[in-house]
Amino acid sequence: MKDKNYDTFISVFSENFENNIISKITISFKNKINTERKVNSDSLEKNINSEISNNSESIVKNINIEYSEIKTVFVKPIKVKDQVKLSFLYRYPTKDITQNYSLAEAKAIFDQIVGVYFLQVDMFLLTESFHLLIDKKGKTKFNKRPLADVRQVDLAHNKTKNTILTEGQSNFLSLLGVFTAEGKLKNDKRDKFKQINKYLEFFAQALKESSLTENFSVVDMGSGKGYLTFAMYDYITNILHKKAEVVGVEYRQDMVDLCNGLAAKAGFGGLRFEQGTIEKSQVSAYNILIALHACDTATDDAIFMGIKQGAEVIMVSPCCHKQVRKSLKMEGVLSPFARFGIIEERQAEILTDTIRIMALEASGYKAKIFEFIDSEHTPKNLMITAVKLQGDYQNQTAWGDIHTLMKQFGLSAHKLLQLLEK
Ligand SMILES: C[S@@+](CC[C@H](N)C(=O)[O-])C[C@H]1O[C@@H](n2cnc3c(N)ncnc32)[C@H](O)[C@@H]1O
Repeated sequence: MKDKNYDTFISVFSENFENNIISKITISFKNKINTERKVNSDSLEKNINSEISNNSESIVKNINIEYSEIKTVFVKPIKVKDQVKLSFLYRYPTKDITQNYSLAEAKAIFDQIVGVYFLQVDMFLLTESFHLLIDKKGKTKFNKRPLADVRQVDLAHNKTKNTILTEGQSNFLSLLGVFTAEGKLKNDKRDKFKQINKYLEFFAQALKESSLTENFSVVDMGSGKGYLTFAMYDYITNILHKKAEVVGVEYRQDMVDLCNGLAAKAGFGGLRFEQGTIEKSQVSAYNILIALHACDTATDDAIFMGIKQGAEVIMVSPCCHKQVRKSLKMEGVLSPFARFGIIEERQAEILTDTIRIMALEASGYKAKIFEFIDSEHTPKNLMITAVKLQGDYQNQTAWGDIHTLMKQFGLSAHKLLQLLEK
């Protein structure tokens, strides 16, 4: 079809394809008038090939597409042998057929089918979408809308992944050894990659729920090899395009030196690592605190620091829970919990984290707990996120409730409470 709105759509499509920022195109809304007649796919193929005959591009091959039967066409860019192509997924009532095309071939197909068999094209970029609508008389409308969430372009062949970080992008993951130098995910790093992406999903959600919009300052307590510290810095600066100061506090000097070297190599100017302990850390003026898999009461030290600093977002993924288990004396009706080591251990974990959540709530946070990643990957799979409530918050948990619970379970001490009530 030819008209001004259609031409604008084609030029926006071509330009954004060249810039690699198309995440998805959907061609839908069947035009009943044209699809009721049987389409001769041979003639359609001939048309398409004559459209692109001026190009040196290869001829559209092996297409035997019955457009009259297709419900929707989904288009996305993919990388095939180092070339970016457009993968067309033709959705029939009972099957899907996929074909990969060059830009010229794709444009030829659009010319043949848009306005003829389909009356709507929705093109999604990273932060905005474009919509071409055609009515039954052939009149067109073209408009643009902002997207609520930032989208990702995944060029990995035949894979539709809705992860924040993707192969072929995120250069820092090659430096950290998760990707090869060519940007391919290493086989033995699949779980780590999954964990980083899952963590970023929770992080993105917590940021959305918080009042933070600019100038993110983050401290990562017990940053270790820095996978998540780097990922957060990359997410804020390269995906949200915001300013970030990120500090990793780590006890081991060798890790600190390694991570500072890698941050310099990655060109991550606002990311640094400091040697120190969580409990004595002098890092201050941060609005986000994270502590992932910090052992035993180190998680309580980190939560305490976050609350004391008035951090807007606190995220912790607890590690082992020794302190509470040692302080538990479950008697009477609760004595069966103490009969078996594994039950007692789990009970101690549940109590430790429940009290952490209650203490966060009593301190003015909205707290949640999630399964971080499948427990088959690691038993340390819980994540507590807390977002500071604004203004006059309703105290959801009173301090007295925490003490009542502790008394019921014969729990004499909880490190976080000791710190908060000092
Ligand atoms: C299990 S690793 C987790 C690393 C990283 N947060 C992650 O989740 O990938 C725990 C790290 O915290 C550090 N660590 C443990 N206790 C600490 C403390 N009290 N102060 C500072 N670092 C600590 C350890 O040296 C180790 O590198």
